[in-house]
Amino acid sequence: MQIQDKLTMPIGVFDSGVGGLTVAREIMRQLPCENVVYFGDTARVPYGSKSKETIIRFSKQIIRFLKTKHVKAIVIACNTASALALDTVQTETDVPVIGVIVPGARAAVNETENKKIGVVGTEATIRSETYTKIIKSQLPDASVIGKPCPLFVPLVEEGFAKHSITEQVIDIYLSDMKNTDIDTMILGCTHYPLLRSKIMAYLGERVHIVNPAYETAMDLKDILNREGIANESGHPGTYEFYVSDAAEKFTKFASSILPYDASSTQCVNIEEY
Ligand code: DGL
Repeated sequence: MQIQDKLTMPIGVFDSGVGGLTVAREIMRQLPCENVVYFGDTARVPYGSKSKETIIRFSKQIIRFLKTKHVKAIVIACNTASALALDTVQTETDVPVIGVIVPGARAAVNETENKKIGVVGTEATIRSETYTKIIKSQLPDASVIGKPCPLFVPLVEEGFAKHSITEQVIDIYLSDMKNTDIDTMILGCTHYPLLRSKIMAYLGERVHIVNPAYETAMDLKDILNREGIANESGHPGTYEFYVSDAAEKFTKFASSILPYDASSTQCVNIEEY
């Protein structure tokens, strides 16, 4: 393949559903010339309550689909898939694949002063202790407190991000965490950045909030530059959106998150891949 072709090939971004749009949004903001193909596995969401084997199988299918779109790099926007499938799929894929956990952990390590870090995420992400392991590999005497917050995902998806019921759920999940002396908190799930202001208000100013999406987009930029495949055309990127179910619902959600039109979202039978 000509190098010129490679530069204009899209970045594949995937998630268990709509939440990964928070990561796609950051990629579109930081790398405005890159074309992006987004896949949301809306038929099989949530991943957060599924087994490692299932999440690896789903991730492999999605990567096979993205490869049909000739992607030059893949971002696993989903924290759960990053925690459980990244290592496996990385070794089996011939384009760079990155997840959100390494960048998120690094941001927290850079941010913390007292080495006490909180992580919130799905059951599967917290159970895997992937954030803890990566943080400790960089900062061995760090102490990491993980807390699964499964209700945050449906609250965001049902449009309750700004509702007072969300404040009650935050209090139920995070009251123990609030009584610790963590100075940094990782929002280790795609949906949680949409609750950022409420979580920030609850934990107070002494706790720095990390959204892994920002660092992930920076890592992607570094990789594209290092590999010599960044799109420097100067033209704005184009975006394609695919889901495994309920394209209309996805489009509605996307329009509340992205400043771009996602109305041409197409449904894909992902089990065929
Ligand atoms: N995208 C998932 C994550 O970031 C959250 C939703 C799910 O459980 O699938 O972990």
